Amino acid sequence: MMKILLTGSCGFIGWRTSEMLLENGYYIVGIDNMNDYYDIKLKEYRLRKLQKYENFKFIRADIENKKLLSGIFNEEKPKIVINLAARAGVRASIENPHVYFTTNVLGNLNLLELSVEHNIKKYILASTSSLYAGQQMPFKEDLPVNKPISPYAASKKSAEVTSYTYHYLYGLNVTILRFFTVYGPAGRPDMSLLRFLYWLYYEKPIIVFGNGHQKRDFTYIDDIAKGIIKAIHLTNSFEIINLGRGKEPTSIIEVIRIYERLMGKKAKIVFKEKVRADMESTRADINKARLLLGWEPKIDIEEGLRNTVDWFLKEGKNIGFKV
Ligand SMILES: NC(=O)c1ccc[n+]([C@@H]2O[C@H](COP(=O)([O-])OP(=O)(O)OC[C@H]3O[C@@H](n4cnc5c(N)ncnc54)[C@H](O)[C@@H]3O)[C@@H](O)[C@H]2O)c1
Repeated sequence: MMKILLTGSCGFIGWRTSEMLLENGYYIVGIDNMNDYYDIKLKEYRLRKLQKYENFKFIRADIENKKLLSGIFNEEKPKIVINLAARAGVRASIENPHVYFTTNVLGNLNLLELSVEHNIKKYILASTSSLYAGQQMPFKEDLPVNKPISPYAASKKSAEVTSYTYHYLYGLNVTILRFFTVYGPAGRPDMSLLRFLYWLYYEKPIIVFGNGHQKRDFTYIDDIAKGIIKAIHLTNSFEIINLGRGKEPTSIIEVIRIYERLMGKKAKIVFKEKVRADMESTRADINKARLLLGWEPKIDIEEGLRNTVDWFLKEGKNIGFKV
């Protein structure tokens, strides 16, 4: 069984990716520090799902702690590292920038050093569409993304370039995946798509930053997880690849309207001032993912939101999490 060290395994993307890998017969050593940036009940719910698999082992650990990580590499001897652990909120990164750098940059550096030391065959790093702020759409991977407009984006850019350095110096096989606004069942309660659903269900006002016309290339979680799994097999030694829906983006207001229809409820929207670090619109060029990974996203926004609503009504609301 191929052994993968996957960080952020109790996070949204880490959990679903682990689940698919476990179904595909991989052995997963999942690492997460279970921090309380958002309601930990969701992380515990995802962990309970993963612990049903015999080929899953969970270690509560912080990627900032190199000594602890080193012990895990020695003990577990993974072949592949997928680093999805991160502080991931654009707005929160303005409030508390330091942890974005200690986790996203130095934590990644710890994993890179240990990956070289342990002769890891493949290193995958999660990056973000937030790097493309100010660029011409659709966003292509070779655009010069050197003006990050949030500490979060700056930390991810730093992690990307450090990963390149470790590829250059030591021949580490690195694939960097830039995700575009990921959503779906058991998603993140700090992100608008789960918050809107929660507020609509409990008939609370829906808070929208800006005028709601900002658009996102919303990408469904299963498509993202499949893209990550495909990247494991990419033999090219260093690549940066977008994973996004790659179609006409959807506005925040449109999302609310779809939810209203699906839930049979009317939203009360409260508009708040736009956050300077928020981008107006995102749209991925996904030709590189098609070409190198043979990847094609399948789920459109209607179907993805329907799945999210179904999950929330069946399971999500019983978890008792708060947004
Ligand atoms: N969700 C999106 O739309 C999106 C978009 C672009 C990029 N990303 C990136 O994808 C990755 C996964 O994001 P997500 O949406 O699943 O976020 P998430 O917050 O749900 O998951 C991240 C997980 O990492 C864990 N973690 C954080 N700091 C840690 C540390 N120091 N040590 C160990 N574990 C730690 C958290 O507890 C959490 O469970 C992140 O790197 C994020 O930046 C996500």
